[in-house]
Amino acid sequence: MKPTIVALPGDGIGSVVLEQAIRVLDAAGFEADYAHGDIGWKFWCTEGNPLPQRTIDLISKHKIALFGAITSKPNEEAMAELDVSLRDKGYKYSSPIVGLRQLFNLDICVRPCRSYKGNPLNFIRRGRDNKIEEPHVDAVIFRQNTEGLYSGVEWTNPPEEVYRALMTHPRFVKNFSDVPVGELSVSVRIFTRKATERILAAAFEYARKNGYPSVTVCEKPNVIRETSGLMWRLAKEIQHNSFPEIKLHNTNIDAQMMWLTKNPEDYGVIVAGNMFGDIVSDAFAGLIGGLGFACSAQFSSGGVAVFEPTHGSAPKYAGYEVSIVNPLAMIESACMMLDYLDRKEISARIRNAIKDIILEGQVRTYDMMKMPGSPDVLKNGAASTAQMTDAIIARLQ
Ligand code: NAI
Ligand code: MG
Repeated sequence: MKPTIVALPGDGIGSVVLEQAIRVLDAAGFEADYAHGDIGWKFWCTEGNPLPQRTIDLISKHKIALFGAITSKPNEEAMAELDVSLRDKGYKYSSPIVGLRQLFNLDICVRPCRSYKGNPLNFIRRGRDNKIEEPHVDAVIFRQNTEGLYSGVEWTNPPEEVYRALMTHPRFVKNFSDVPVGELSVSVRIFTRKATERILAAAFEYARKNGYPSVTVCEKPNVIRETSGLMWRLAKEIQHNSFPEIKLHNTNIDAQMMWLTKNPEDYGVIVAGNMFGDIVSDAFAGLIGGLGFACSAQFSSGGVAVFEPTHGSAPKYAGYEVSIVNPLAMIESACMMLDYLDRKEISARIRNAIKDIILEGQVRTYDMMKMPGSPDVLKNGAASTAQMTDAIIARLQ
């Protein structure tokens, strides 16, 4: 049966790259219907809601979405751009992508970072005898997507009950009891057993299915003893009970940031909480070409899946008559969708085409040519977004 994909272009370059990804999917013979979903800044300005209920209904119905990117702005700007007729009616802006994650409990975020041979943006290092080495990076980061420091439970000048609760903790009493409450800001880092088990199990299963010998938990359990500690304890339990053939490693986020620029080839499946997962996945993305290459998938326990590039709406490149941004992160995200739908023969063909184009080096977007972005890059030999897509389509076999 033909699946229906909810296409969520969003803002800025989000709609540009999504259109290109759908061109590639069509050309590769992926048969699907696309249902357009409204999301993003425009709908905040005109309706007071960047994630309208009709879009939520579409996703609930079809359960699978390809998402471009949205623009988020601080509260004051959001209010200033809200349609005059909607002002002072209690509308409050909040990011629709964070909203989507929470609403559908898209708690598992997967961000593969694999280097393509021939990509001039690949990480290189100086090895022995001064030789330049280009290690192959193949890391897949599993980021808990709904809890941790991003759960939004935070206060500045916390209410009295909260302050009283904090005062029951000996460490708080010792270190913070002399701070006036109005000068306190508190962001709570919440890990639940259930969600932590789910992200860990997803990482282990992925390792088993895809032949990775180990899983690395990247947290800080020696200092953040309760939340990072919970993840590490559960990881040991899950490994012992269900994945004895997979080795389990533990790195601290700070040390990991150092090691990944020394020996990135040593890491495969990495699992982390929300904040550290965000950090470590951006860092690995930097080793394989940056935001133009960083793809992701998000899964819920209820069978909803959303595939999106890690990058945002890049407003400074949004209004271009001929778009210059790199469509690969979005196209790779679409490949993750194909894998999820068990259309791996199609995703393999698309990835092979990408591999060939990058290796040949004839068609490169401006980021791959290390140019500052401007409309001039096209005159200077950079491929446009559409030309990069054309090249991939021409290579499909
Ligand atoms: P961004 O990811 O949109 O852009 C940062 C820079 O990365 C760009 O200026 C450009 O130099 C480069 N870049 C991004 N995508 C690229 C591509 N496909 N090809 C080549 N270069 C690319 O992040 P920024 O500027 O911090 O945020 C812009 C807007 O996007 C903000 O409103 C932000 O809230 C939103 N945003 C949305 C996300 C989402 O929808 N998931 C994620 C991140 C930011
Ligand atoms: Mg990020």
